[in-house]
Amino acid sequence: MIENRRMTSQELMALEDRYGAHNYHPLPVVLSKGKGVYVWDAEGKKYFDFLSAYSAVNQGHCHPRIIDALTQQAQELTLTSRAFYNDQLGVYEKFLTNYFGYEKVLPMNTGVEAVETALKLCRKWAYTKKGIPENKAKIIFASGNFHGRTMAVISASVDPDSTKGFGPYMPGYEIIPYNDLEALKLSLEDPNVAGFIVEPIQGEAGVVVPDANYLPEVKRMCKEKNVLFIADEVQTGIARTGRLLATCGNCTCAGKCENNYETRADILVLGKAISGGVFPVSAVLADDDIMLCIKPGEHGSTFGGNPLACAVATTALQVIDDEGLSQNAEKLGIVFRNRMQQLVDKSDLVNLVRGKGLLNAIVINDTEDSKTAWNICVNLKENGLLAKPTHGNIIRFAPPLVMTEEEIHQCCDIIEKTILEFQI
Ligand SMILES: Cc1ncc(COP(=O)(O)O)c(C=O)c1O
Repeated sequence: MIENRRMTSQELMALEDRYGAHNYHPLPVVLSKGKGVYVWDAEGKKYFDFLSAYSAVNQGHCHPRIIDALTQQAQELTLTSRAFYNDQLGVYEKFLTNYFGYEKVLPMNTGVEAVETALKLCRKWAYTKKGIPENKAKIIFASGNFHGRTMAVISASVDPDSTKGFGPYMPGYEIIPYNDLEALKLSLEDPNVAGFIVEPIQGEAGVVVPDANYLPEVKRMCKEKNVLFIADEVQTGIARTGRLLATCGNCTCAGKCENNYETRADILVLGKAISGGVFPVSAVLADDDIMLCIKPGEHGSTFGGNPLACAVATTALQVIDDEGLSQNAEKLGIVFRNRMQQLVDKSDLVNLVRGKGLLNAIVINDTEDSKTAWNICVNLKENGLLAKPTHGNIIRFAPPLVMTEEEIHQCCDIIEKTILEFQI
């Protein structure tokens, strides 16, 4: 029987601990409501959400337009599978491909599924178009990557937490250092290289921003060697970094995106905020010469492209434009990093701040295996702001993009107070 009395946070955490797999280590807070930039715990305490479900809730919690799209579509048709056509998918595919400036989309659900799809598509293209001998295609990855949790994807990870105890791993991969053009140049000498997959900014690794010439050079070098440049923008995409995509570079589209990507990927991988965090939706975008290498029956997903996802994602992307969220992320990101730099200057506890738009991190002056960053996050929680360490001594800050300038200052005040009062 399901209990329906109101449970305390302690009781709810105990339930997860008792009945759920122990594959996460959450901060001790139980959330029961979200609206815009705020979330509330089971006892009604209000917090600023400074993680946004790892950049999925860019449009803010329970955005009324997105929830409206969800509930309206939920009453008409939710799932047909791809055994039949549905009246939402084609309209969505036209909208999405126009929105991002690609000829085709392959719809999936989670980020890792979209990455897997991109890897399969890359191999298929290698055999059908590039002429790489069967089973010889090689895909290059960057060290420090995070592309998700499936077997094919963790096989490219260098993080022992992701890989240890899960072997044997997928063959046909090479891992080179991130932000290292010389290493890429060397690897691209192999004629069997089919693709290079890279995050424009490594989010999970601690918001690692590469040199300004890295992506443009990656694109140029891949093109020269007829190798597909695959951008995993699951975390960086959809306005997070102050542009529609991180691969937009310094494009100057003032309002509506004109698809002037400085480093347009051959295969673009999106997830998370494509649905505003309302529903698992992901997408792989490419032009016809690549996408049409996959034929009917060769790849798919029961839920991919379902009517509910199409309705939700369309509205979630319209909200990005209508509310100018790329521009807001760009503007508030500058405010945030300026405030954090002032903190770096006056506190020995923070070594540096880095990031782009509203995807930022501070590096705590302690070892990677210390508990300092975790304890700071617990204190931040007490002071009304939720964030979480990534890689031990790095705290990622990624609030919803619907934040106001006044609110970001309030958040900076909380972070500053917490850090300055922190005792090791
Ligand atoms: C860059 C990147 N790729 C892929 C994924 C995997 O997405 P999902 O957790 O939806 O499978 C993530 C998740 O954090 C990510 O940050």
